[in-house]
Amino acid sequence: MPGPVEITQNDLNRVRDFIFKETGIFYESKKDNYLKTRVCQRIAETGCESFQKWFNNLVFGSRDGEPLNLIEELTVNETYFFRDFPQLRGFAEEVLPAYLEKKRKNRDYNLKLWSAACSTGEEPYTLSIILREMIEDFDLWDLRIEATDIDRRVLRHARLGLYGDRSMKDTPTVYRDKYFRKTTEGWRVLPAVTEPVFFEQINLVDRLAMRRRRRYDFIFCRNVLIYFNDSSRKRVVSDLYDALLPGGYIFLGHAESVGRITAAFVLERMGDFLCYRKPS
Ligand SMILES: C[S@@+](CC[C@H](N)C(=O)[O-])C[C@H]1O[C@@H](n2cnc3c(N)ncnc32)[C@H](O)[C@@H]1O
Repeated sequence: MPGPVEITQNDLNRVRDFIFKETGIFYESKKDNYLKTRVCQRIAETGCESFQKWFNNLVFGSRDGEPLNLIEELTVNETYFFRDFPQLRGFAEEVLPAYLEKKRKNRDYNLKLWSAACSTGEEPYTLSIILREMIEDFDLWDLRIEATDIDRRVLRHARLGLYGDRSMKDTPTVYRDKYFRKTTEGWRVLPAVTEPVFFEQINLVDRLAMRRRRRYDFIFCRNVLIYFNDSSRKRVVSDLYDALLPGGYIFLGHAESVGRITAAFVLERMGDFLCYRKPS
């Protein structure tokens, strides 16, 4: 029986560089064990007899093959409905009403949101529920919520729209009863919520794909940039800036800040939260 494959520090550094180049995610040396365990798992799964053979396949094989398999092994997909409730309340009760009022005055009834790094879909579906609840003339609006992630597995789950109790833990009961159906398999999101949501696989550091995304009113890019380093964060934030309409907003996770990265946004405070507006 062949023993486990040997991985040197130099091998690990090559994988670290590869992942950073492909995804923007930067693994500091304190994450070496995490990285090594996942790499070993991939090598075992592919049946490669040496690190070098597996690495050649990673670097020179199809981009949809081993690179994505490894990325999916590594990404942290933790998410749930109504995550960071106070921030969402600020969006729903402060930012959104004033923003919509401006649009109504211009007779512009298009509203486009982007959940960039949506994981299994709880975030875009939460946004869909918020819009239904908050927009009194909802039927007049042409609404589109685009939801993207690098990870194909989470997107498959998101399209299914079926969730366990953990995903529901912060969902107010009144919304749970109104927008979900309890089935033997879990909580199913109702079509009224899923209908304006469109999923697509996008890598945030794929410049070409990012440049095609334009004219968003609101971008939610939460709890992903914490895994990036300053240079990849800066690059993504600059692309997200370009993707926004003038006057549009970006919302980040509460541990994240673009202040250090770009002064191009106007900083707005909503209670304990900050959000960033592109100047009009
Ligand atoms: C922790 S989840 C955040 C989900 C949701 N935004 C939230 O706040 O609950 C982070 C997601 O970012 C995705 N991700 C990581 N790097 C990415 C990249 N370069 N491009 C697109 N998505 C990426 C992961 O696959 C993962 O699903």
